[in-house]
Amino acid sequence: MSHRNTLDGQIALVTGAGKGIGAAVSKRLASMGAMILLAARDREQLAAVQQEIASAGGRAEPAPLDLREESSVAALAQSVKERFGRCDILVNNAGIGITGQPLHETSPAAWDEMISTNLRGPYLMIRAFAPLMIEARAGHIVNISSLAGHNPLKNGAAYSASKWGLNGLTYSVAEELREYGIRVSAVAPGSVNTEFGGGSKDGSWKVQPEDVAHVVAMIVTQSPQSFVSEVKVRPLRKP
Ligand SMILES: NC(=O)c1ccc[n+]([C@@H]2O[C@H](COP(=O)([O-])OP(=O)(O)OC[C@H]3O[C@@H](n4cnc5c(N)ncnc54)[C@H](OP(=O)(O)O)[C@@H]3O)[C@@H](O)[C@H]2O)c1
Repeated sequence: MSHRNTLDGQIALVTGAGKGIGAAVSKRLASMGAMILLAARDREQLAAVQQEIASAGGRAEPAPLDLREESSVAALAQSVKERFGRCDILVNNAGIGITGQPLHETSPAAWDEMISTNLRGPYLMIRAFAPLMIEARAGHIVNISSLAGHNPLKNGAAYSASKWGLNGLTYSVAEELREYGIRVSAVAPGSVNTEFGGGSKDGSWKVQPEDVAHVVAMIVTQSPQSFVSEVKVRPLRKP
């Protein structure tokens, strides 16, 4: 697959772009010519990723966002509409993972935090950005789910529920938007080497963030007559 310049002129919005998978996806799409809007809460992290992309000759801008807040999502959508009038690629990647407790010991606050970030967040983003794509009669929405959205996750029921929910949302919205030329996909990685959920000491056996970025790059360069519903990405070796 030839990458450079394939996405020239396109605007890509990546949530959770300050680190981990989102940073890797942002760098990859920027290297293919897209202008990246780097969305997350931590402005210093966004500035650092922007700097890295600029040093490599790419284009990116910080787009501060708390996707738990409807007003924050609406403000970003308004500014993207006014400044660019389009959003070609939306990567709903931001997510949190609070695990380690059985559901009956999980507080309602932790449950709400999980669902509002991992499930309601992508809903708010699609609600805000799909109209721009519908106008353009084109677009890619890529939701970063998890193998935990297919498998049981002992002591991680709230996380697992958020990702099972995200898969249902993804497949349903794909049916709603395909008539507008908008392709909606899920990527479901297994363990990825990031700081997510506290990370772990030796992450070399895990899927690397760049591996997930490679899959996103593949999805958004799919030829126009087809679309990818979902890709599962597993570590080759078991821990
Ligand atoms: N790592 C894994 O093993 C793994 C496996 C399968 C799936 N995933 C999924 O992959 C995605 C990315 O995970 P990662 O490993 O890259 O995690 P990470 O390194 O912890 O990064 C998460 C990103 O999400 C952002 N974020 C969290 N809450 C947010 C909010 N309310 N508003 C806006 N941004 C928010 C964070 O930025 P701020 O805190 O600055 O806002 C950060 O940039 C998640 O959806 C996760 O569920 C990860």
